[in-house]
Amino acid sequence: MQNIVILISGRGSNFEAILRTSREENWESQCGARIAAVISNRPQAAGLQIARDAGVEAIAMDHKAYESREAFDAALAEVIRRYDPAVIVLAGFMRILTEGFVKEFEGKILNIHPALLPLFPGLDTHQRCLDAGCRVHGSTVHFVSPVLDGGSIIGQAVVPVLPTDDADALASRGLVYEHQLYPKCVRAVAEGRVKLVDGRTVMDDDTARSLTIFGV
Ligand code: GRF
Repeated sequence: MQNIVILISGRGSNFEAILRTSREENWESQCGARIAAVISNRPQAAGLQIARDAGVEAIAMDHKAYESREAFDAALAEVIRRYDPAVIVLAGFMRILTEGFVKEFEGKILNIHPALLPLFPGLDTHQRCLDAGCRVHGSTVHFVSPVLDGGSIIGQAVVPVLPTDDADALASRGLVYEHQLYPKCVRAVAEGRVKLVDGRTVMDDDTARSLTIFGV
């Protein structure tokens, strides 16, 4: 069985979408993959309760209990290793991971970023997109590399930017498609249809089409 471990910090709507899809599509029998655990660095994260309610192992690891970023990441890696995961999914995980952690799990860690990378890495992506006057915005799933929001791209969902949008409206429009995109990307990596080879994402044309979403 391919174990999937999901890291969150907050509401966990992407985790919930992945969980729902994994059950609807019966990933355990269809692709031999299951969500083995959800780990949050914030004990109060709403996503942990979603996991408990769904019978998924939910682990709180408060980063404030560790004296340094390195100490937290070492403890996190130790917990994650127990699951020998094929895929580690960052879903609203608001911590920058150390290079050592990223290197250990390189090619297995995915992140979703609310912008069309390489545009707008970092925070406040929706407002920055509006300020720049873009006509399109969206979200990107990518492999995690030591460069923040800089790893090789797996899939993207594009949405229009409307004249009446504020940052919240734009974020809500994008989130709907994140919930379609991320489960597809996680499944494709778990099935080995998407791989990181020499720092570049490799997949066939059909997979690439399925991981490109045009929203309205
Ligand atoms: C999403 O917008 C994602 O793009 C960003 O953080 C948010 C997480 O939301 N990385 P949720 O916790 O999955 O609801």
